[in-house]
Amino acid sequence: MYRLGVIGAGNMGMAILNGAISSGAVKAHETAVFDLDAEKKMICKGKGCAVLEDEGEVYKDSAVLLFAVKPQNFETLLNKLSGFKPPEGQIIVTIAAGVSTGYIKSFLKQSKRFIRVMPNTPLLIGKGASFLSKSEEVTDAEFEKIRAIFGAMGETAVIPEDKMNEVIPVNGSSPAFVYYFIDAVAKSAEKMGVDYDTALRLAAATFIGSAEMILKSGKTPEELIKMVCSPGGTTIEAIKVFDARSLYDIIDEACVKCAKRAYEIGK
Ligand SMILES: NC(=O)c1ccc[n+]([C@@H]2O[C@H](COP(=O)([O-])OP(=O)(O)OC[C@H]3O[C@@H](n4cnc5c(N)ncnc54)[C@H](OP(=O)(O)O)[C@@H]3O)[C@@H](O)[C@H]2O)c1
Repeated sequence: MYRLGVIGAGNMGMAILNGAISSGAVKAHETAVFDLDAEKKMICKGKGCAVLEDEGEVYKDSAVLLFAVKPQNFETLLNKLSGFKPPEGQIIVTIAAGVSTGYIKSFLKQSKRFIRVMPNTPLLIGKGASFLSKSEEVTDAEFEKIRAIFGAMGETAVIPEDKMNEVIPVNGSSPAFVYYFIDAVAKSAEKMGVDYDTALRLAAATFIGSAEMILKSGKTPEELIKMVCSPGGTTIEAIKVFDARSLYDIIDEACVKCAKRAYEIGK
């Protein structure tokens, strides 16, 4: 029996597999993988993971099984797996946006133990943020072991499963919001005659520093904004434009749409 099985070794599946191995939670030879893509299978083999014949082989033989395929691939995957018998006590970990454990259970009638996770791509560099929830049947000790794997790749927080879609704009999708803002700032600088690459580098560094100020200074975002905005100064002119265009409302609308989409594509 493999300690960890992974179905789908794409961006997230591979990042979590790497994190589980490098944190010492599992050894490479204790893991089994299946992906449709030959190159990804080769990479996993190169790490020392067992690459199995198909999804069913991984399902049948993994104590903890990670589903890391796209939401649109779930129906086909679950239909395939429903013909196999999982090992006693298997824990299924799923990271797919919008796919509820109830939906998975409707195909895999024998599976009862689930952990649902909303991770993000900065996990790839060990600076991720992951929300986790568990079904009642998973013990606290088992849950903490899985949480520690995600903890080795960044921040974690526990929430009820019925809030998993609402947190997608907080951590799952928000890396894209941050890239968007940094790119916009750097492009504006370029228009004003500053080299784009240099502006991008310094704007990104500013995001890292500013985000750490929120985590470490003990001050609220509002207090931190005030610290930068001297009356009659430069920053307040920019904030006035944000306020005049109701940027808070725009961001709120975007976040609500993002979470709603998870319900639309969700199962
Ligand atoms: N990317 C993010 O920012 C992010 C954030 C939070 C959560 N997630 C969730 O993470 C999951 C994976 O996302 P990703 O970005 O890692 O996707 P990805 O890079 O496309 O990886 C998915 C992998 O699964 C493979 N696959 C599809 N069907 C399969 C099957 N039946 N058996 C085995 N492998 C199969 C795909 O192969 P093919 O390419 O050949 O189809 C692909 O290699 C998604 O459900 C997503 O909602 C992603």
